[in-house]
Amino acid sequence: MILYVLICMLFNTLGAQDVRTVSQVSVQERKSIIIPCWYNQAYVNNVKYLSFGDYWTFSNYVEFSDGRRKHETISVSDNKTTNILTIEMRNIQQSQSGKYWCGIDGPKSHIGIEFNLKVTADIAGLYVQNQMLAGLEAGNVTIYCYYHLPKKTGIQWCKLAGPCVLESGGLLDGALVNISNNNGVVSVNMSKLKKENTGWYWCSVTDLQMPVHITVSTREQTTITTSFTRTPMTTFSQPTSSGTIKSTRSFTSAQTPLFSMGFSDCDHAVQNLASVAKKYQPKESPSSSQR
Ligand SMILES: *[C@@H]1O[C@H](CO)[C@@H](O)[C@H](O)[C@H]1NC(C)=O
Ligand SMILES: *[C@@H]1O[C@H](CO)[C@@H](O)[C@H](O)[C@H]1NC(C)=O
Ligand SMILES: *[C@@H]1O[C@H](CO)[C@@H](O)[C@H](O)[C@H]1NC(C)=O
Ligand SMILES: *[C@@H]1O[C@H](CO)[C@@H](O)[C@H](O)[C@H]1NC(C)=O
Repeated sequence: MILYVLICMLFNTLGAQDVRTVSQVSVQERKSIIIPCWYNQAYVNNVKYLSFGDYWTFSNYVEFSDGRRKHETISVSDNKTTNILTIEMRNIQQSQSGKYWCGIDGPKSHIGIEFNLKVTADIAGLYVQNQMLAGLEAGNVTIYCYYHLPKKTGIQWCKLAGPCVLESGGLLDGALVNISNNNGVVSVNMSKLKKENTGWYWCSVTDLQMPVHITVSTREQTTITTSFTRTPMTTFSQPTSSGTIKSTRSFTSAQTPLFSMGFSDCDHAVQNLASVAKKYQPKESPSSSQR
């Protein structure tokens, strides 16, 4: 019981705020996927890793952000500007289904957050055709999230480690979001795009999420050649739109217990302590494998 309390305290205080990712992703066998994990700036210089296993403490290292394992199909890269760790998994096999952890290595900072990967033989429960999309400043981009699920509740579009917009639509960091849902496709239309909207998002249907990256570029290139009569600022300045939509009700925090942290299900953890002991497989120390 003491251990249970300690685990909950540790993960609630460190894990919840400091690393965030999606909670459950489905992918079809032999396809590829990119999973982003956001981390607090405090850990920018720590080595990050991906590990595999039901329990973080006992999970096995798969790859590190310095690529030391030279994994053939999984690469982990750390963007220190955006504080985002991206995990790219290629040619995924059924045996790779299960629980993964985005972890931060360091003497005092043992922090990890889990995500579940469901590898399906047939079509995945929720997928996109392309995870990397682009749009222009003041323009729009539409994300199509396809689902093959019996239920279609819980539709939302969220910024990774940020706010969400529900099916009714609304504003997200100043961009206008319209979500429609027809024939197994959730279409998320983001318009009035700003440069700051660049980043990782995820669409969600039921308990599945799918990460999507959006890059918003400026129209500078176009403007330079056509700006003899109009200045760039005038051409592309946008009216402030915060007064046009009353959307407070459509916001929800991404930091619900479901998505916010790894060891959130403490009751579950304690129930399984017995089986943890049985499965005990110590992780080799990352620093020792560095040598
Ligand atoms: C980090 O992300 C920024 C913004 O998306 C991008 O411009 C930059 O190239 C990335 N850096 C690396 C090392 O991937
Ligand atoms: C939305 O984007 C499309 C293609 O990217 C473009 O043709 C259209 O003009 C844009 N609409 C607005 C209102 O920006
Ligand atoms: C969202 O898009 C749908 C379909 O294009 C449209 O019917 C609806 O009016 C739009 N909603 C908003 C709030 O713009
Ligand atoms: C997305 O919204 C913009 C602005 O309302 C609109 O011009 C564009 O046609 C929409 N795109 C799609 C694919 O519905």
